[in-house]
Amino acid sequence: MTIAVCPGSFDPVTMGHKDIIVRAARMYERVIVAVAESPSRKAPLFSLEKRLKFLNSSLLGLDNVGVAGFDGLLVEFAKAKKASVIIKGLRAMTDFEYEFQMAQINHKLYPEIETVFLVARPRYSFLSSSTVKEVAVYGGCLDDLVPEEILIKASILFLASSFSLRSAQRRQ
Ligand code: PNS
Repeated sequence: MTIAVCPGSFDPVTMGHKDIIVRAARMYERVIVAVAESPSRKAPLFSLEKRLKFLNSSLLGLDNVGVAGFDGLLVEFAKAKKASVIIKGLRAMTDFEYEFQMAQINHKLYPEIETVFLVARPRYSFLSSSTVKEVAVYGGCLDDLVPEEILIKASILFLASSFSLRSAQRRQ
């Protein structure tokens, strides 16, 4: 059985992430969505617990997909789960340099692992967790940006976090 891991920060999961996971689930017998507890590039807005909950709700019904948090090196997580493939989505050339570097270092650390890139569908090529957060903080509509299953919960949490952010800014 070929097991693939689909890693990321998922802060929060977007429609673009879901599309990649659904497509990976058609290609591999088992897909484990690996959620980095402390992503290297920036501190997450949502706790690991919330990010896992959002993913679990968004991926209901995908029987060969599981969701798990991890801390430390991705390749160690992949080894522990007996995964031989890392799946990453590529939206544009701007993603490529970073993802290329990650694939090379992951191969250096664990030569048995293969990184497979799935090209984002054009309708999701502009979409990222950061743009979702930016839209949400200013009260914009998240329809078609995050999975329907988490739309209401994510919007409420965003409103709460933007409210506390603005209150903190006013106090300064
Ligand atoms: O959603 P992102 O920001 O593209 O996810 C990046 C992530 C979490 C996949 C990457 O930062 C990662 O693999 N972190 C775990 C630490 C690791 O193994 N880094 C690669 C070797 S330096």
